[in-house]
Amino acid sequence: MPSTLLWGAAGGIGKALTQQLTASGHMVVAVSRHPAEMKALTPHVIAADVTQPAQVSAAARMAAGMGAPFDLFIYAAGDIASLKTAEMTPADWNRILSANLTGAFLTAQASLPHLKADARLVFIGAVHERLRLPGLSAYAAAKAGLEAFAEVLRKETRLPVLVVRPGAVDTPFWKKVPFSMPKNALSPQTLAEKILTALEEDKTGMLDIG
Ligand SMILES: NC(=O)c1ccc[n+]([C@@H]2O[C@H](COP(=O)([O-])OP(=O)(O)OC[C@H]3O[C@@H](n4cnc5c(N)ncnc54)[C@H](OP(=O)(O)O)[C@@H]3O)[C@@H](O)[C@H]2O)c1
Repeated sequence: MPSTLLWGAAGGIGKALTQQLTASGHMVVAVSRHPAEMKALTPHVIAADVTQPAQVSAAARMAAGMGAPFDLFIYAAGDIASLKTAEMTPADWNRILSANLTGAFLTAQASLPHLKADARLVFIGAVHERLRLPGLSAYAAAKAGLEAFAEVLRKETRLPVLVVRPGAVDTPFWKKVPFSMPKNALSPQTLAEKILTALEEDKTGMLDIG
């Protein structure tokens, strides 16, 4: 049975991915800040904040005991706030950078020893070029950094690394910003289906969806 280690699993996109991967026969280890909630979707749940190195290391060790070596690594955590630079505190900046970028580094680093030699890695990014808007400096910078990190990681590990760049997706993410969600937002289930199809087609690099 193929196995997936999914970090940031309790978000709208993380839950849809967990559902579809389990439905397609994957054993999914779901790491999130809401393990009790995730138990409805997979029995293999672990609690961790992806921005805390000690919690990430402990979670990776625990995950290894549940299903290593893994075929698939997914990083689906993220955070956003609309705050102009003049009003953003260092704590706001760090929270957004940590959830979107530093967490990707920490979880990838901790997961690599527990992945198969031909494992695939997927990071959920964003179409950050379109998000260089007032209030989104931290988010746009973090997602741009995520792509640079993922590209270097691919060269270092020679593993297939995919950065998915969704358009709007109908998840609780939109409650964190004072913008209306576009009417054509994808459902998280549709996005998850498209990600699984991209994996079946061996897509790597950057992939815009929606
Ligand atoms: N929704 C969209 O339109 C859209 C578009 C483009 C890209 N994306 C990206 O897609 C990814 C998933 O977003 P989503 O739409 O599924 O939003 P979501 O429902 O808000 O999910 C984000 C998840 O990240 C988790 N998270 C944030 N900080 C964390 C931390 N320090 N430790 C552990 N978990 C943490 C959140 O956990 P808590 O519930 O504990 O806060 C939440 O479960 C994000 O990277 C986002 O940037 C979303």
